[in-house]
Amino acid sequence: MRRIGILTAGGDTPALNATIHGAVTRANQVRVEVVGLINGFAALFHPRAPHLLLNPLFGEIPELDPTRGGTILGASRDYVDPNDHERLDLACRRLKDLQLDGLICIGGDGTMNGLQPLCDMIPTVLAPKTIDNDLGLNYRYEADHWIREDHTEAPGYFYRRSEMPHTFDIEHMVNYATPGYATAVYVSATGIGRIRTTAESHRRVAIIEVMGRHSGYIALGSAYGQPDLILIPESPINSCELAERVKEIYVLQRNVVIVCGEGIVDETGHVLGSARLSTDPAGNLMLSGASEALRAMLIEKIGDEFFHKHGRNESAGSAIFTRKVGHTQRGGRPVRFDRFQAAQLGGKAVEMLLEGQNNHVATLQWSRTEGFYVDSYSGQLFRDQWGKIHARNVHPAMYDPHMMQPSPVGIEYLLPIFTNAIGDDDVEYIRQTLFDSGNLFRRYHSVNTDIHKRIRFLE
Ligand code: F6P
Repeated sequence: MRRIGILTAGGDTPALNATIHGAVTRANQVRVEVVGLINGFAALFHPRAPHLLLNPLFGEIPELDPTRGGTILGASRDYVDPNDHERLDLACRRLKDLQLDGLICIGGDGTMNGLQPLCDMIPTVLAPKTIDNDLGLNYRYEADHWIREDHTEAPGYFYRRSEMPHTFDIEHMVNYATPGYATAVYVSATGIGRIRTTAESHRRVAIIEVMGRHSGYIALGSAYGQPDLILIPESPINSCELAERVKEIYVLQRNVVIVCGEGIVDETGHVLGSARLSTDPAGNLMLSGASEALRAMLIEKIGDEFFHKHGRNESAGSAIFTRKVGHTQRGGRPVRFDRFQAAQLGGKAVEMLLEGQNNHVATLQWSRTEGFYVDSYSGQLFRDQWGKIHARNVHPAMYDPHMMQPSPVGIEYLLPIFTNAIGDDDVEYIRQTLFDSGNLFRRYHSVNTDIHKRIRFLE
């Protein structure tokens, strides 16, 4: 293997450059050229396949900084459709013209879904990433426990899980955590701490929405910010029970902080954050998210009188407010845990290609005796019997739906990731860079400007 390609697909994370860096470092040791493909799979669908050499003369380009968030290669949500043969043939030709002997896709469950057709063209492995922490398995044969149903009233298939095994051990998880997750939790937990003190001052109820789609890992990890209640998509919300808990806590401490995952569902399984019909002042249709839907639910259930009675002259509507942590979760410098593990996984992906693996996934494993280590598993382990990859959910054993907090198992899960997740250099970085007076005089210099000068195209 003399020349391999690497691309970053799907939504970005803060640790992508660290994974690329890990791959390039390993490739330099074994004298393999690494070609970065621009904007994920979009590069392969572009007639001239924009790309750049990441390690000319087996030294990495200076723009490749593992402490910089995002990806210097650019990311897109373009995906590989296995049924689009014409497009696949073109992609195949471009891979050949680029003279690649193997391909590393840095991606999540969506990328995994498109991996199979690529593996038929070129040895391809996946280095995982996603802030959602949903690429992985709670136990080894979890993918075999999906059931597919064909509902006549709506097009397409519906998937549901059969019963999960009752025994669950965090040591048996496949891909314990994905790079990007720790930083997303760090940002969310920091935000929660900051919102707490203002909620305390103003005697308010704060609802903080975090990302994660239908997986509640970010919400679970946000327990480090000590919210009073954590709502995850895996546990349907009972609005009466929730309103009672909010009132109880409010009576005691005159403020409540609730964290909700963006994919939370009500008791009927309806996603609260899905499109709700409402209009802005101009009459345009607006979409509102999970936190707004939750706020409306609490305003209705708790009512103005409760807040008046407890010393506020304001309505429930002004006492209960929402904030989304939003894309700050996905950006900026990765914390040490993410940087380190991402680099390990990038290096592992190169080794997997050198060993002749194809359609395999580099994974981060954890055991009580060894701590974290990297490994690899066949991509088939992650696919159900119809070939579909499902996002990993928070296992029921990790969450206490009554307390609306991580369970003891959930806490056991979080500890290995977060106990030393932040390095001294992460703290020092803030001290040295945030109020650097030079920031006031210099414009931000985007790395994209330099990268664009390095991009080459197929003739
Ligand atoms: O999958 C990562 C993620 O950040 C999700 O948590 C979130 O729902 C989604 O991507 C947002 O995507 P976009 O930035 O494309 O709106």
